[in-house]
Amino acid sequence: MFYKAATKLIRALPAEPAHRATIKALKTGLGPVTTRRPDPVLATEVGGLKLDNPVGLAPGFDKDAEVPDAMLAAGFGFVECGTVTPKPQIGNPKPRLFRLSEDKAVINRMGFNNGGLDVFKKRLIARRGKSGIVGANLGANKDSTDRVADYVTGLTELWGLADYFTINISSPNTPGLRDLQASDAMDDLLSRIQEARTELTGDRPSPPIFLKVAPDLDLNQVERITQQARTYGMNAIIISNTTIDRPDSLKSAHKGEGGGLSGAPLFEKSTQMLKEFAAAAEGRIDLIGVGGISSGAQAYAKIRAGAKAVQLYSALVYAGPGLVMDIRRDLAERLKADGFNSVTEAAGTD
Ligand SMILES: Cc1cc2nc3c(=O)[nH]c(=O)nc-3n(C[C@H](O)[C@H](O)[C@H](O)COP(=O)(O)O)c2cc1C
Repeated sequence: MFYKAATKLIRALPAEPAHRATIKALKTGLGPVTTRRPDPVLATEVGGLKLDNPVGLAPGFDKDAEVPDAMLAAGFGFVECGTVTPKPQIGNPKPRLFRLSEDKAVINRMGFNNGGLDVFKKRLIARRGKSGIVGANLGANKDSTDRVADYVTGLTELWGLADYFTINISSPNTPGLRDLQASDAMDDLLSRIQEARTELTGDRPSPPIFLKVAPDLDLNQVERITQQARTYGMNAIIISNTTIDRPDSLKSAHKGEGGGLSGAPLFEKSTQMLKEFAAAAEGRIDLIGVGGISSGAQAYAKIRAGAKAVQLYSALVYAGPGLVMDIRRDLAERLKADGFNSVTEAAGTD
């Protein structure tokens, strides 16, 4: 009740100040805390990462790793911080974040605003030894002359501090970033990541590394990216980032803003793309489903489509952080009703 009211109050602010206020509140310990252990049916494993609940926080909410523990306490099974770039960056001019309330959607063109690796790293060092899975989503600076080197720097600096890494080549808000999804560019990027990983790992086990892709891909690209991700030892593919599409169904005044669209109107498109990746992967590489999830039924649909874990962000803007517990409860009921013993068992059954 309190969190629903607080979410309403915060929504009275423009979108970006509202987000800042939310982070501040979470930092001061005002977020919801669940002590309830996840239902055992929610257990899963994705890309070698063992999770006791498959519902993760998507990156962009906590770009600077300020509140991962508060979000874990709210009930998320894993929290992905970032995108972090080597150097701090102010991002695009404001306003750059828009609520499309009638559409239960968000448009953002933040442009990787973040405090840079140094600050991010200090925060991860400060939480060392705490429980809970925290991943680092890596990106490249807008003015970088060697973008691939930026990803390698991120990996190197945060090695041993994050439970997993995500290589984000799918943000529409850094000009040219999505070009890294092209065949030659991906060969160059993923081979250099693989080299760095081998060097950093030595004889210890490596943390998983995931690749996050856009939803705006054709079937040939889906098949080729899946193959390349496997060739270079990526542990999972995350589908998807925001879309540059603007479906005709959008009603809100802000629908014409530039940037990436997320939330409800992204659900169908990103789930369809997930199915295409599942067909191309044939079970040989794990998948994580993201895009438009705001209910247990939708989380379940992503799992049935092939995801072994899911993430969400935009729905929090409308429902507040209590949403994650509702999704957990509903998802557990659905899995059991269909006779599944775990998320991994249900993954890809459609
Ligand atoms: C305001 C905002 C900022 C985001 N920033 C990032 C980011 O820095 N890195 C990233 O990989 N994805 C970012 N995303 C994309 C989300 O992680 C997610 O892939 C996308 O929003 C679809 O999920 P959703 O519909 O549940 O929000 C951002 C999304 C929003 C709404």
